[in-house]
Amino acid sequence: MIRKAAFALGAVVMLVGALSCGKREAPIAPPTVQNYSYSRPDEVAVSHLDLDLNLDFEHHVISGVASFLLENKAKAKVVHFDTWALVIDGVVLEDDEGREIPAHFVVGDSLALVGRPLSVAIVPNTKKVTVRYRTTAGADGVQWLSPAQTAGKLHPYLYTQSQAIHARSWVPCQDTPAIRFTYTANVQVPAGLLVLMSAENPREKSADGFYHFEMKEQIPSYLLALAAGDIEYRAIGPRTGVYSEPSVVEKAKWEFADLEKMMKTAEAMNGPYRWGQYDVLVLPPSFPFGGMENPRLTFVTPVLIAGDRSLVSVVAHELAHSWSGNLVTNATWNDFWLNEGFTTYFERRIVEALYGREVEEMQAIIGRRDLDLEYDEIGADSKDSALYVDYAGRNPDDVPSTSAYEKGYLFLRMMEDSLGRNQWDGFLRRYFEAHAFQTMTTARFVKYLKSTVFSDDSTRYGALKIDEWIYQPGIPSNAPVLKSARFDQVDTQIKAFARGTPAALLATKGWTTLEWQRFLDNLPSPLPAARLKDLDDTFDFSHANAVVQRSWFPLVIAAKYEPAYPAIETFLMTIGRRYLLRPVYLELAKTPEGLEFARAVFKKARPGYHSITATGIDLVLYPEKPAGK
Ligand code: BES
Ligand code: ZN
Repeated sequence: MIRKAAFALGAVVMLVGALSCGKREAPIAPPTVQNYSYSRPDEVAVSHLDLDLNLDFEHHVISGVASFLLENKAKAKVVHFDTWALVIDGVVLEDDEGREIPAHFVVGDSLALVGRPLSVAIVPNTKKVTVRYRTTAGADGVQWLSPAQTAGKLHPYLYTQSQAIHARSWVPCQDTPAIRFTYTANVQVPAGLLVLMSAENPREKSADGFYHFEMKEQIPSYLLALAAGDIEYRAIGPRTGVYSEPSVVEKAKWEFADLEKMMKTAEAMNGPYRWGQYDVLVLPPSFPFGGMENPRLTFVTPVLIAGDRSLVSVVAHELAHSWSGNLVTNATWNDFWLNEGFTTYFERRIVEALYGREVEEMQAIIGRRDLDLEYDEIGADSKDSALYVDYAGRNPDDVPSTSAYEKGYLFLRMMEDSLGRNQWDGFLRRYFEAHAFQTMTTARFVKYLKSTVFSDDSTRYGALKIDEWIYQPGIPSNAPVLKSARFDQVDTQIKAFARGTPAALLATKGWTTLEWQRFLDNLPSPLPAARLKDLDDTFDFSHANAVVQRSWFPLVIAAKYEPAYPAIETFLMTIGRRYLLRPVYLELAKTPEGLEFARAVFKKARPGYHSITATGIDLVLYPEKPAGK
């Protein structure tokens, strides 16, 4: 429950330069920003957080009390927290004997992207800092959904998305992946809603809307997560299950039936799963990502419920983050490839084990195409095409990142191909074991790799061009060559279609989403409208799953095939995942009429989009506007 008593004094604490014990406090110097954070991991770091939250669905406000246990490593006199669009109502300190006193604190000026520092004066025996705060309409890590934006249409919904730097918009925190902490939370919502966090979770609604959570493993702030809505649970295996709105939950259980198998495969490769339970929460459509690896509770888009298990590799990906990312965590966002490149590699290893090498290879080839498209956009010699990227103060949501995923994948795959699976798997397993619950920089990874696998033999190390892979732009010459007989067969059908073979006569029996993607992505474009009609009449692409639609609609737009435009509008209005929407808006933006149509639909759709998707599409449709958070 909200601890009101402790704040009888807090209410009179001023925002800046509060007095305590009647004497004037020394001024607090404004902190500088490092890695998007005002905090100083080497000086004073939070080791544990106790949260008390009240969710006000009427006013869209989270009011909270956040108590931080501190580890003061350098006799620091000030602890700095990150905040974004938060109102700070008061701060108290607690010493090692549990005595509370009002704190001297300053909420500093706001900087673009990073927000305001909350700087609190501390003394050597300060054990705990407690902050009372409220969120505002600018909380870009929180999305409040009206009942109309949910499947059930009766109850409101809330979910958070903290990665990369949005946790600070709903909890004041040291918002850097370099600091890890355990947490507990008490959350109060109106009765009738279930609350879930990246923690030990309830499976049933409580009668009074009160919930308690514990996360006993240390996590970085970007893995803080919260969701509340009309949500039900179904178990899949002994330690796996799904949560979603009632009308979706049985379908979700069917779609993700392979969760337990995925878990066994991942453990066989990377070592034991260290988080206890693994559940998947299927969110309403506005969720801006395919998935987010919140510990114990992956968040996913409902688009994955395709009815044929064709999109479950996203869940394999988020599960794999339980090792790469959540257990061994990128120390800064410049090291993002350590999270995503490793995870894309493990995702495909899981896919290979469950669905076969052919499927894995098709996914890798589709990934390679995404990579080449990104390089076309940014230039293959762009510094952003190295694995280690200098984010240089850009909005992390908008830094091109396919390279982190797909060049990262190719790098790990090259290592596997060069060393052999046995040696490479042994290395990976030991790497996770040796660095569990720690953060990792690219430089430390390279050092560890060099000293273990290569015994610091520079010649053997140099032969694999590892430094080139990691620090130089583009794809080195020893990149694995990906081949797929099933895609060769698709390519034959593309040629046949291009020569005039009617759609119904193409040999497409047994094709999966992957083959359809390959087919649509490589058709000549623009095609005459009559040929698009033939395709749509034969295969009904306009109503296929969203991943297939993502490849189909750009063809429709390039050919100005108007009968499919209503389906495009429905797609843009009902999908929230940025990765699916972006190519469609990009294609529309290529012509004046397309841009006009896109802007008109976007105007209607934008209020329902998550802010990450909305700003991502702003950049496509209004490129002249300055980018900002
Ligand atoms: N952690 C990412 C999502 C993310 C990255 C959120 C950066 C915010 C900042 C997640 O694991 C992810 O990679 N999702 C992908 C899944 C896909 C590659 C299988 C997505 O949403 O598209
Ligand atoms: Zn990921």
